[in-house]
Amino acid sequence: MLAERVREDFPILKQTVYGKPLVYLDSAATSQKPRRVIDALVRYYQEYNANIHRGIYRIAEEATMRYEQSRGKIAAFIGATRPEEVVFTRSTTEAINLVAYAWGRANIRAGDEIILTEMEHHSNLVPWQLLAAEKQAKLRFIPFDGQGILQLDEYQRLLSERTKLVAVTHQSNVLGTINPIKEIAMTAHAAGATVLVDAAQSVPHMPVSVGDLGADFVAFSGHKMCGPTGAGVLWARYDLLDAMPPFHGGGEMIMLVQLESSTYKDPPHKFEAGTPSIADCIVLGEAVDYLQGIGMAAIRAHEQRLTDYTLRRLAEVEGVTLFGPRQLDRRGGVVAFATDVAHPHDVAQVLDQEGIAVRAGHHCTQPLHRRLGVAATTRASLYLYNNESDIDALVRGLHVARHLFSPRPAPAKR
Ligand code: ALA
Repeated sequence: MLAERVREDFPILKQTVYGKPLVYLDSAATSQKPRRVIDALVRYYQEYNANIHRGIYRIAEEATMRYEQSRGKIAAFIGATRPEEVVFTRSTTEAINLVAYAWGRANIRAGDEIILTEMEHHSNLVPWQLLAAEKQAKLRFIPFDGQGILQLDEYQRLLSERTKLVAVTHQSNVLGTINPIKEIAMTAHAAGATVLVDAAQSVPHMPVSVGDLGADFVAFSGHKMCGPTGAGVLWARYDLLDAMPPFHGGGEMIMLVQLESSTYKDPPHKFEAGTPSIADCIVLGEAVDYLQGIGMAAIRAHEQRLTDYTLRRLAEVEGVTLFGPRQLDRRGGVVAFATDVAHPHDVAQVLDQEGIAVRAGHHCTQPLHRRLGVAATTRASLYLYNNESDIDALVRGLHVARHLFSPRPAPAKR
């Protein structure tokens, strides 16, 4: 099993919490980091910490070279045609805000429509709400069915000549649903709309080629794919980036600054004002090397097998309701559930006492939860280092929670 091979690479997984082995099932929130990623971070700070694109001394040149090398690795990883299509951001959230601010303000006008889905993370919802309010544009939403599958016939009905943007998650961070982006993008383009994909939950877990997706913008985060926090990516078609005004203004994104006006560098530098998260962006390249060494197809196959096991084992626990599609080819390893005995936070707290880390709450998807008819869920999310014993521990923990929270018969009167 893949997990047995790679678990050794993750030092954090060797620890115990409350005297029990740590079972980490929250990789949709952030992934754990392999030793070589941690070492690469230390190496940067110990050996060549310097600002990039500025200094002409040796260690500054090394930092600049490695930063740009990392951009190239990421471009190759997602099948971009050129490294200049990769903009470093802090996170997926910042990447989407960049598009909403720079592209959106230049392209969205009163009466235009933006199509989103009911399963979006707040980071692919709130930026468009802000833009729509400012521009008097309208938001429309593709609903999902009882299995958590987008209703594409509704999408067809929503599309019109007023649609300027379709912004969709590739994989839901709650339902696990993998959306048919290629089809969605082709239909959007035929209607003259631009397409943005929130790939925060897909790029870390499966082979993703931006060419195959057929979108115009793709956003994802380094920290969910074995990299450090503080480095995210916006991939975009070069011609779009070239035509867009900047997002942040400041140092290193300019060609010439006068007191009253400035001219800007070409993409991607136009969008990377100020000192970026140098170490994190460089080390994201190390994470990409690590994932590529294992193979994204192997990671996807491993997670599909383990998702199957998780769904089957959880379905055996009395009182558990599972959300999201059952078909393994339509979903990833994010499994949200509710129980009939306790609030998801209480369940997560009991699991924590058993050494099991899961997320509970609305997972930054309040509208999705409203649509499911629940205020919150407990969520187990898998990655390459998880194995069947992690799921067995989760199931044991749920039995403990069930035992603790089940109503007990009143003691007999004497
Ligand atoms: N977006 C991350 C999650 O779903 C933080 O947990």
